[in-house]
Amino acid sequence: MAAGRALAALLAALLAASAQLLRREASFMISLHAADNVTVMIKLRHGISPSCQINVKNVTRSELWIKPGESTTFTFTCSTPEKYFIMEIQKNIDCVSGPCPFGDVHLYPLGLPRLNRTFTWDVKASTKAGLELKFSTPWLRQIEPGETCPDFVSYNINSCIDTAKVNIGTFCRNGSVSRVKLLGGVVMSLHLPWNSPLTTSGFNIANRASIKRLCIIESILKGESSVTLMSPNYPLGFPEDELMTWQFVIPSNMRASVFFHNYSLSNCERKEERVEYYIPGSLSNPEVFKLSDSQPANIAGSFNLSLQGCDQDAQNPGILRLLFQVVVQHPQVDENVTHLVDLSKEWNMTVTIHFEGWPTHIPLMSESMCLICKDPRTCDRVLTLVSGAVYKISFLCKDLSRLRITAEKGISCFDFRWCQRKIYSLSVPKAITQLPIRLHKFIWKLLAPDLINTEITSPSLKLQQHVPEQRCNTSYSYSIVSATPEMELNVGVFCPGGSIKKIQMRNNITIALKTFGKGFLNESNHQDLKMSFVPHIKDECTFTVSPDPKAKVYLQTPNWPYGLRPYVSISWYVIVPNKQVARLGFSRDRMGVTCETGRAYVNIKEETLGAEETVRREDELLPQPRNMYHNFWVNVSNCKPVDKTQLTLQFWVAFADKQIDLGVILAVVAGAGVLTAIGLTVCCVKKKRKKSQNPMVGVYNANVNTQVPGKQGLFTKGRKNNESHVYAVIDDAMVYGHLLKESNGSVTPEVDVYRPFDGPIGSLPPSPPPFSFRKDIKCSSNTEESPPLMDRDQDTYTFAHQKSGKSEDNGDTSEKNNGDRSQSLLENKEQDGLEE
Ligand SMILES: *[C@@H]1O[C@H](CO)[C@@H](O)[C@H](O)[C@H]1NC(C)=O
Ligand SMILES: *[C@@H]1O[C@H](CO)[C@@H](O)[C@H](O)[C@H]1NC(C)=O
Ligand SMILES: *[C@@H]1O[C@H](CO)[C@@H](O)[C@H](O)[C@H]1NC(C)=O
Ligand SMILES: *[C@@H]1O[C@H](CO)[C@@H](O)[C@H](O)[C@H]1NC(C)=O
Ligand SMILES: *[C@@H]1O[C@H](CO)[C@@H](O)[C@H](O)[C@H]1NC(C)=O
Ligand SMILES: *[C@@H]1O[C@H](CO)[C@@H](O)[C@H](O)[C@H]1NC(C)=O
Ligand SMILES: *[C@@H]1O[C@H](CO)[C@@H](O)[C@H](O)[C@H]1NC(C)=O
Ligand SMILES: *[C@@H]1O[C@H](CO)[C@@H](O)[C@H](O)[C@H]1NC(C)=O
Ligand SMILES: *[C@@H]1O[C@H](CO)[C@@H](O)[C@H](O)[C@H]1NC(C)=O
Ligand SMILES: *[C@@H]1O[C@H](CO)[C@@H](O)[C@H](O)[C@H]1NC(C)=O
Ligand SMILES: *[C@@H]1O[C@H](CO)[C@@H](O)[C@H](O)[C@H]1NC(C)=O
Ligand SMILES: *[C@@H]1O[C@H](CO)[C@@H](O)[C@H](O)[C@H]1NC(C)=O
Repeated sequence: MAAGRALAALLAALLAASAQLLRREASFMISLHAADNVTVMIKLRHGISPSCQINVKNVTRSELWIKPGESTTFTFTCSTPEKYFIMEIQKNIDCVSGPCPFGDVHLYPLGLPRLNRTFTWDVKASTKAGLELKFSTPWLRQIEPGETCPDFVSYNINSCIDTAKVNIGTFCRNGSVSRVKLLGGVVMSLHLPWNSPLTTSGFNIANRASIKRLCIIESILKGESSVTLMSPNYPLGFPEDELMTWQFVIPSNMRASVFFHNYSLSNCERKEERVEYYIPGSLSNPEVFKLSDSQPANIAGSFNLSLQGCDQDAQNPGILRLLFQVVVQHPQVDENVTHLVDLSKEWNMTVTIHFEGWPTHIPLMSESMCLICKDPRTCDRVLTLVSGAVYKISFLCKDLSRLRITAEKGISCFDFRWCQRKIYSLSVPKAITQLPIRLHKFIWKLLAPDLINTEITSPSLKLQQHVPEQRCNTSYSYSIVSATPEMELNVGVFCPGGSIKKIQMRNNITIALKTFGKGFLNESNHQDLKMSFVPHIKDECTFTVSPDPKAKVYLQTPNWPYGLRPYVSISWYVIVPNKQVARLGFSRDRMGVTCETGRAYVNIKEETLGAEETVRREDELLPQPRNMYHNFWVNVSNCKPVDKTQLTLQFWVAFADKQIDLGVILAVVAGAGVLTAIGLTVCCVKKKRKKSQNPMVGVYNANVNTQVPGKQGLFTKGRKNNESHVYAVIDDAMVYGHLLKESNGSVTPEVDVYRPFDGPIGSLPPSPPPFSFRKDIKCSSNTEESPPLMDRDQDTYTFAHQKSGKSEDNGDTSEKNNGDRSQSLLENKEQDGLEE
């Protein structure tokens, strides 16, 4: 009989060989011995047109079924039967009524046609006995349902308890699962593609003592690696009230950490769903955890983990399932180094330590993974610390530079009596800067009700606004956003070492300190940002700017480059040091906005008795560069713009010593002499007369916000969506891109720029009444204060322009609140052309 079998095998082999030479004539003989209890079935793949047939003794058919003890010779009517047919080879193994044929499992019979095939071993066994499936290397890797194996070779293991079938899992070759022990019957199947070179099943079956649970899965992890495993039936439910165990064999000099990525719980009527660990060296084995707990980490060597179900609520059982990962790493050099993080004196603050890219990017579990530990065995990829406590943390991480800290602190004022005069320091606490982890972001949320506003000051460093002409290059910056529930105003990006002493803002403010490069560790010592709550302010934002005498300062409207929101007003108060003259210029010649409702204005005025106020409407040219001898205001107020036009304004301020300036002027003036001086006087007088005949109207829209609440609300709705869109686009890379590149920590603090301000410090100077339409133009009798010749043209121009716009201005005041749609199309076009 053995000889017969060998002969048959030889024949089949020969046939197979000839089949390859002469495919069309290929004929197969399958001969099955009754004792093997194997059934072979060849059938058309489901849903395929039967354009290929099986030919048995001149009879064609689309299906062939060869039973134990039968022998059949057949051919296919086409040369590529693997495109149409699949094959199932089922072997029944009965261990109940007779001895089990244990040992290596063969891929029998030989000489099968090259078709996709499924070998199924159906082992019937007593539920009192354990069966062990032992896989040869390279072992197995469990896959999620729907996943396919790279070589299309997959194993599926099912356990049969009574009549119920439990899917233990689907596996590919090449993994760490070395053994699966089961109780009772097993249905094991192996799927092979038609062209697979595999000739052995890759496993053997052995008899074992009862395991007293559904199954035990053994995983052997040798080096730095990870394994992902799922509970039986995943993503469907683990059988009710069952128990199973995963055994992990890990070298004792390696460390393992467990992460539950996906789980759900059923509705337990009795008992509790839980996991239990046997951990080497633990004094409390088994250690019991809820599925929702942070699972043990940094386990030295082999351990096992059991999943215990419960008695479920029959009406609403729910689903117990678990997908988890075990990561094995070498012990980290610093695993025993603990860092004290003392947040006991902090207030309303959370500190999150995480991998870079979190939370959008959760790192793959790999060798480079980093864990943050609250205690030696409670580690995770993200750790959140809250104020009021002291932590001892450690890191399991090869490369700490891939970790980041994000912190948030809330400061609120809901009763002005309590927060009045309180000065809050907006600096990153030492507890954070001393950690060997880079600070990614520190966010202060300043919350106040509508009528309380915020003021931030930076008395010693002063802030620089990040503008294209003057980019921040410090190791950190502040991004300031003011928000109401309806909208956000991106005030701007600021960094230390500039000229802005103070910013007053309405609404709730979010200040995010972001770091760039490694220099922050050094620069963090000089942090100087303070905050206090102030009574209601008139404008959306007021900047107090006190530039360094040598500096040229660029300033721009918030929400750059997307334009100021409708009806919003912003003001800058620029402090001009004694003995200096400031030169003020605008970067473009127009505001860039066309108004649909209301008008937009720029108002410039020196803070001195009887100073001239320069007013420009959105349809006028902005003033030419001019000299300012006293502290001055630059105020901007927006209208409701027509679609696609935006108010964006940038200006600069530079300083020169007065004497030098005058010297130049005198030299220029020398030729003209007294004549010019007379001319000037005449001109001024003329101006003054005309002025008083036609008082200037329709100036600065201070507080338009509160004046037209209805309109604002109306507009807000439409704009809201726009703005969420807008903010999605303003990302760091755009605004601050050049600094996102690590700057090798070579950023040096600009000590010489941080000159302490020595001019008048204090609150804003007393404001004139908001709707003062009077405009006094006066030639000062003091020659030192008189405008130099070079400004003459501009002044004249200013005057002429105002005159020409006067009648319109008049109409404006009355129309401001009703809406002004009289803008000419031509003007609109002109404005559009100036848009960027
Ligand atoms: C099969 O059919 C061919 C012709 O159709 C015939 O020549 C041949 O003898 C037949 N063979 C058998 C075994 O019936
Ligand atoms: C055979 O298996 C391969 C890989 O899984 C698949 O792409 C192909 O469609 C299968 N062929 C048939 C006839 O089922
Ligand atoms: C073959 O399998 C069937 C079904 O499991 C079983 O009833 C029968 O006893 C088996 N025969 C042998 C010879 O093992
Ligand atoms: C087995 O898996 C490892 C890691 O996943 C991979 O590097 C290796 O190439 C795989 N080997 C085979 C034969 O697929
Ligand atoms: C977790 O389960 C949810 C819901 O079934 C699924 O959408 C998600 O992809 C799963 N995640 C993983 C990592 O398997
Ligand atoms: C789990 O590990 C413990 C300790 O090594 C051992 O006593 C126990 O038998 C193991 N349990 C299983 C189910 O492997
Ligand atoms: C950390 O401490 C444990 C227990 O004291 C010790 O076994 C281990 O070797 C230490 N790890 C390192 C990297 O020093
Ligand atoms: C704490 O901060 C949160 C925002 O981070 C804020 O909502 C809350 O009001 C603050 N609580 C106190 C008491 O300041
Ligand atoms: C600021 O936030 C607080 C709390 O969230 C809220 O009550 C208040 O209305 C907000 N203020 C503004 C101006 O949006
Ligand atoms: C921090 O400053 C010290 C000296 O003040 C210097 O030696 C070190 O290189 C600086 N580190 C960085 C990252 O700039
Ligand atoms: C940063 O920019 C300022 C001017 O804005 C310049 O003086 C300084 O040298 C720059 N520093 C570095 C490190 O580039
Ligand atoms: C600019 O705004 C400030 C603050 O609202 C105000 O005090 C000042 O009078 C305004 N100046 C002009 C010229 O409108």
